[in-house]
This record gives sequence, structure tokens and C-alpha cells, in this order.
Amino acid sequence: MSSRKLIITGGSRGIGFEIVRGALKDGYQVVVVGKNKISLDQAKTDLEDFGAVSTCEVDLSNRDSVLSFCEAVNDPVYGLINNAGICKVRRIDENQSLDEWDEILATNLAAPYLLTANLLSKIQDGGRIINISSQLGKEGRRGYGAYCASKFGLIGLTKCWAKELGHRRITVNAVCPGWVDTEMSRVDSQRIADEKGVSLENYLQEITSPLELGRLSSPSEVAGLIRFLLSEDAAGISGRDWLMHTIWNQE
Ligand SMILES: NC(=O)c1ccc[n+]([C@@H]2O[C@H](COP(=O)([O-])OP(=O)(O)OC[C@H]3O[C@@H](n4cnc5c(N)ncnc54)[C@H](OP(=O)(O)O)[C@@H]3O)[C@@H](O)[C@H]2O)c1
Repeated sequence: MSSRKLIITGGSRGIGFEIVRGALKDGYQVVVVGKNKISLDQAKTDLEDFGAVSTCEVDLSNRDSVLSFCEAVNDPVYGLINNAGICKVRRIDENQSLDEWDEILATNLAAPYLLTANLLSKIQDGGRIINISSQLGKEGRRGYGAYCASKFGLIGLTKCWAKELGHRRITVNAVCPGWVDTEMSRVDSQRIADEKGVSLENYLQEITSPLELGRLSSPSEVAGLIRFLLSEDAAGISGRDWLMHTIWNQE
């Protein structure tokens, strides 16, 4: 592996933060891409002890911002991890605004496409592309149409790119976490618990009891799978969608 540089989107918080921490421990140099300067600065401070980390402020929902970032990347890159994502809940009969639909699709699906297409010449042969999809990239859920469309789409792109880039030994995989304990899932769980009129604790018990391990995954467990996919041991694995636990599909 000649380059040790990774670009990780959404690395300032949640799952992305743990992916960055794991990658730094494994000796990679990491560029963390995020939108919010305050959370990027905080992440840099918290991660500096683990290795060579830098940050870049990019609004991934804005095409020009993504393209300017890609143009400014010079060095060869070993891997791109498309992790940043947003989730907003609106059923088909609730008149989702086109702006909201566009923001979700732009952040979760168009940005990974634009980053991958425009960084491809800088990603070295034998490199890695990892897309963070979701269990909702494999099954629908009421109210999650735009999010599901983006996450199903990301798995589709993964499978196409794996076939298109195999001749360069670039592996492309999707990781599909289920419930992971982050701000995104906490906000969502609290909202649903409130709607149901039950405590957060009872709601979490309800959603985790059908899972194999009976609990939420942790961000560092998702990062563990990504550390493996980045490693030389995973050089022969491409085009797969890695579901982390059974699909919870009761709503
Ligand atoms: N948590 C779960 O249960 C779960 C389950 C399955 C899949 N996932 C997926 O895993 C990924 C990470 O989720 P998470 O739970 O860690 O989310 P999170 O805690 O809400 O963090 C989201 C990250 O994405 C960044 N981001 C959001 N919009 C952005 C934009 N327009 N431009 C640049 N950066 C942006 C945020 O940066 P700022 O701080 O700058 O906003 C933040 O670093 C997402 O793709 C999500 O869909 C999560």
C-alpha cells in the first residue's frame, strides 16, 4: 500500500468519529469531511492524540462545495469512506417538500457519487471505497421513503462500482448498520417513543429484543467492520452489502 491517506465524510460525530479513530490507530492519515466547523474542530482536538488527522469543511448537500473539495485533493488517496448521512421522517401522504427530499438525496446519495467520480483518478489501484448504507437500504419503513431511497441507491452504486473498478483492484463495499447508538438514532427513538407514549427505555427494549445480540450496536463495532474492509486481508472482497444484524421491521 503506497498511500495511507483516507477521506472519511461525517467523521466529526457518531459512527464516523469512531471510524476515524480506528483508522488513525491503524496508521492511516485521515481527512475528516464535515459541514459544521465547531464539530470538526472539536473532533480534531479529540482525535489528534491518535494520529495524523486534518479536517475540511464541506457541505455535502451542495454540489459546488463537493466539487471544489475534490479539485483541491492532490495526494494519492488509499480510501474513500462515504459515511455522512442525514435522516428526516415524512410519509408519502405528508407532503414532503421538494427541498427536504433534495437535501436527503443530495447528502446521502449524490455526494457519494460526486466524491467517488471526481476522486477516482486520485484513488490508487488496490484502494478502497466503502459506502455506509443501512438496514434501511434493504427494507422499507413507514416514513423513511427518502432515506430508504438514498440507502437502497447506495447499495446499487456499490455493486456497479465494484464491477467497474475491479480491474484496478479497488474494492467497493457497503456497510449496512442496524440500530447504532448515536445522536441520529437517539433523536429518532425518542421521537417514536413520544409518539407511542412509552418511555425511551421501553421503546429501546422493544426494538432491540428481536436482534441477535438484543442490544444496539456501538459506533466502534461498525468501525471494526470498516477497519477489516480497509485491511489487506479484505483485498478479495468487493461488491458486498454487509448487514450488521437482522432487519428490524415492525413499523
Ligand atoms: N445511527 C444509526 O442507527 C445508523 C443506522 C444505519 C445507518 N446509519 C448511517 O451511518 C452514517 C452515520 O450516521 P450517524 O448515526 O453517525 O449520524 P450522526 O451522528 O448524525 O452524524 C452524521 C455525520 O454526517 C455529517 N453530515 C451531515 N450532513 C452533512 C453535510 N451536508 N455535509 C457534510 N457533513 C454532513 C455530520 O457532520 P456535521 O456535524 O458537520 O453536521 C456528522 O459528522 C449515516 O450515513 C447514517 O445514515 C446510521
